[in-house]
Amino acid sequence: METIVGTNISKVKEILEQNLLAAIPTETVYGLAANALKPEAVVKIFEAKNRPQFNPLIVHCKSWASAMDYTQDVPTIAHQLAEHFSPGAITFLLPKKNTIPDIVTAGSDLVAIRIPNHPMALALLSQLDFPLAAPSANPFGYISPTSATHVLDSLGGKIEYILDGGNAQIGLESTIVGFDERENVLLHRVGGVAIEDIEQVIGKKVIFAQPNPDKPQSSGQLKSHYAPHTDLLIGDIVALYQQFSDKKIGLMSLSDSYPQLNFAHHLLLSPSGDLAEAAQNLFSFLRQLDEWNIDIILVERLPNEGLGRAINDRLNRAQAIYK
Ligand code: TXA
Ligand code: MG
Repeated sequence: METIVGTNISKVKEILEQNLLAAIPTETVYGLAANALKPEAVVKIFEAKNRPQFNPLIVHCKSWASAMDYTQDVPTIAHQLAEHFSPGAITFLLPKKNTIPDIVTAGSDLVAIRIPNHPMALALLSQLDFPLAAPSANPFGYISPTSATHVLDSLGGKIEYILDGGNAQIGLESTIVGFDERENVLLHRVGGVAIEDIEQVIGKKVIFAQPNPDKPQSSGQLKSHYAPHTDLLIGDIVALYQQFSDKKIGLMSLSDSYPQLNFAHHLLLSPSGDLAEAAQNLFSFLRQLDEWNIDIILVERLPNEGLGRAINDRLNRAQAIYK
């Protein structure tokens, strides 16, 4: 199959109405979308991504109000968060109605709901009479795509269409939150909305959800994920440089240029030290480093605050496979 890259929203609507796949832009990362209400469409997502079916998908809706067609018993605190952050980089785990097929939630009673904040995604969703199941548009385990080219590089030939909405503005997957019966917010994945901002709205601390290793709930909770093919190590750059002095090193750092050291390639995530800019660049820089012919990727750990926390989380998982 030849994959078309373009901006024709009506064409994408037609493709999705035929239960076929299209990649769509969002403000976090590109998604691989299918009609969330049709199991025969959704199963194609798992095939194209090589994704295990125990791993549930996020359902993207055109508005928070329309999400109520697919959910029930929504806690007050979820409404409160949605008012502040939706459309946006936050995904809500909510009790599902029967309209959502089991394949979307991997049999769970909870469905993940997100309203993406991207004009093309919202225009498309508002023209459809169904929501879109969409995981990140990358092969399972690899780095998430933040541009149409990234999607084409790894899924070209496997999907009908890539809707090109430019570079993702946030560049990190959504923050995933669940709720308990006491109106606490349970954090399942750090992401594009910072914990500090959520805590400010709810007026209390979030609770870090404990991953269950036997039943991975979020692929973001799997140890090895978001990983380049080249070995990646995080830590003290000067010490690592000495340890690997015989190797061809690619360095990714926030803003420090290490003028005393000599790297084959060196990318600065944000020369001014801005974590939002660093998040925007993160995945495309990892892909770039993976393409260069180097032996090892060294990465500086970022400040563990705001988006820095989600960036460090992705870097830790990118590294885990080699440990
Ligand atoms: O920003 C994002 O969230 C992007 C864009 C495309 O929306 N999507 C994304 O999808 O990152 P994906 O599939 O790569 O990650 C979604 C995570 C998965 O780890 C999945 O396990 C978790 O959400 N998830 C989905 N439905 C769930 C459910 N019912 N219960 C628990 N976790 C769920
Ligand atoms: Mg993913």
